[in-house]
Amino acid sequence: VVRVAVLPHREPWADAAVAAAGSVPSAVEQADALVWVGESPAGLDAARRAGRSLRWIQLPAAGVDGYLDLLDPAVRWTSMKGIYGAVVAEHALALALAGFRRLHEAVGRRGWDAPVGRTLHGARAVVLGAGSIGSALVPLLTALGSEVTVLRRGDEPVDGAALTTTLDRRFAVLAHADLVVVALALTPQTEGVIGGAELAALPAGAWLVNVGRGRHVDTPALVDALQAGRLGGAALDVTDPEPLPDGHPLWSLPNCIVTPHVASPTSMVEASMAARVRSNLLRFASGQPLDGEVDVELGY
Ligand code: GLV
Repeated sequence: VVRVAVLPHREPWADAAVAAAGSVPSAVEQADALVWVGESPAGLDAARRAGRSLRWIQLPAAGVDGYLDLLDPAVRWTSMKGIYGAVVAEHALALALAGFRRLHEAVGRRGWDAPVGRTLHGARAVVLGAGSIGSALVPLLTALGSEVTVLRRGDEPVDGAALTTTLDRRFAVLAHADLVVVALALTPQTEGVIGGAELAALPAGAWLVNVGRGRHVDTPALVDALQAGRLGGAALDVTDPEPLPDGHPLWSLPNCIVTPHVASPTSMVEASMAARVRSNLLRFASGQPLDGEVDVELGY
């Protein structure tokens, strides 16, 4: 049997998953596996050092950029990547539609005015990232009549995309984008992937949506671009810094929509997280490959 520690606090869904897999709750000192359920990595390093027999650590997020310093290859690391792409893609679509249809202005108006906005039908959308979010978003956009280009690390074609190409060719693609959605893992290679030059390459009126990490976008450059008023706007579920401090310009720019990192609420993803932990425990017990294994070199 697998001995499992759940830390840094009791978590009913994780305890249930451990029981459902027939694993045995354990103190970290004796555990084979650790299910980390903390909001942050604080305390994980100490738990990892106390867990001398640990061979596998399950992390609670899809993006493990906050854990990169801890990812030593002496143990196996898994993340939640892959399980809630559809949920986050839905939020990305909501942000894109809100921006295109200028719902943020209409909702605040409290009165009648001339109709404004644009449609995703016939729009050229560019999705950065072909993980579970990007893969789930492409069919949503094509269903609404957008033509989708995917930019990713490699160039393996993504189902439903008119074109899949590599991130290093982004300038040529961004020059024709009406909508840009960032859905990448944050790594040293993708940090700042949307900077001032990329924003300047976009056609007037384009919208930027970010459901990846705030640091994918150069925030001062974005603020400048939004203030210049040439872009349609930005709709962001993630920001740099995060939480966005009171008084930050992104809060008050009329062409910026901010949702406070709410694309994957616990209520929507808890069952999937429990299912991943349960199935990974069964896989671990029987020596099969784990789902969501993090490539320590690539950092996601
Ligand atoms: C959320 O941002 C996650 O990485 O799971």
